[in-house]
Amino acid sequence: SNNTPKGIVIEKQGIFSSGGTVTAQGGVHAAGIGSGNASEWSSVTITGGTVEAIDPVRYICNRSSGKMGYEIARAAKNAGADVILISGNATAEPPTDIKFVKVKTALEMREAVWAEFDSADAVIMAAAVSDYRVKNVAAQKIKKTYATLSLELVKNPDILKDISSSRGNSDTLIVGFCAESENLLDNAIKKIQSKGCDFIIANDISRQDIGFNSDENEVYIIEKNLGIKKLEKNTKDKISEQILEEIFE
Ligand code: PMT
Repeated sequence: SNNTPKGIVIEKQGIFSSGGTVTAQGGVHAAGIGSGNASEWSSVTITGGTVEAIDPVRYICNRSSGKMGYEIARAAKNAGADVILISGNATAEPPTDIKFVKVKTALEMREAVWAEFDSADAVIMAAAVSDYRVKNVAAQKIKKTYATLSLELVKNPDILKDISSSRGNSDTLIVGFCAESENLLDNAIKKIQSKGCDFIIANDISRQDIGFNSDENEVYIIEKNLGIKKLEKNTKDKISEQILEEIFE
């Protein structure tokens, strides 16, 4: 993006290392990003759940609170990034000091991501995107005329997969999430292979104490080469810092 704040300089060693110092021009000499070269960086974080209309009053949604992505956006900002936050439906309070793009449907989310991803150094996709949308959204409120009612659904585009495969020569780092209720690691490995992103952050959404709508998470970071690292249960803000440190290591 072209609104990268000037004077932000990030140098080696773990973006949140305590050894970081603030430079005269207001930059952060701290860590990690840019592999030793002083660099400005930008990130796009996508969070929240998509909302797919059935009729003017009903919709298909999911339990995403937006918290995970909000914390990643905050952590990236704290690490000196120029951040754009794209959010679907979310119940948590979004950060007020970060550029915020509100979307509803998966198709709108896709548009917003396409508009931004190419110029970003890192795209982090924590959103819970509906895999399907209603084929024919009813123009009027559906009446309870019949004993049974079927909704025909069509597949939504896979945003993560599409941006990963269209990167060309750009060195945009793409990180996906993986929400599983069973066989977490097996499914996460399949997912990183099918999506073509650089990392997958896998969380177990069958647990109440982590994942959806919790202030905490416990995740596995899976790399393209299938290296796996577990981040022990912690608050989502701490998990976010650790994720950024790992992906920029
Ligand atoms: O919002 P919170 O309440 O804090 O909860 C956080 C979370 C559980 C939502 C988050 O940690 C998480 O796991 N997000 C991913 C949810 C998800 O939809 O995962 P998935 O396994 O279905 O999808 C895999 C990846 O593909 C995800 O990065 C997803 O954003 C992406 N995707 C999925 C479908 C689709 N049509 N397009 C996509 O880009």
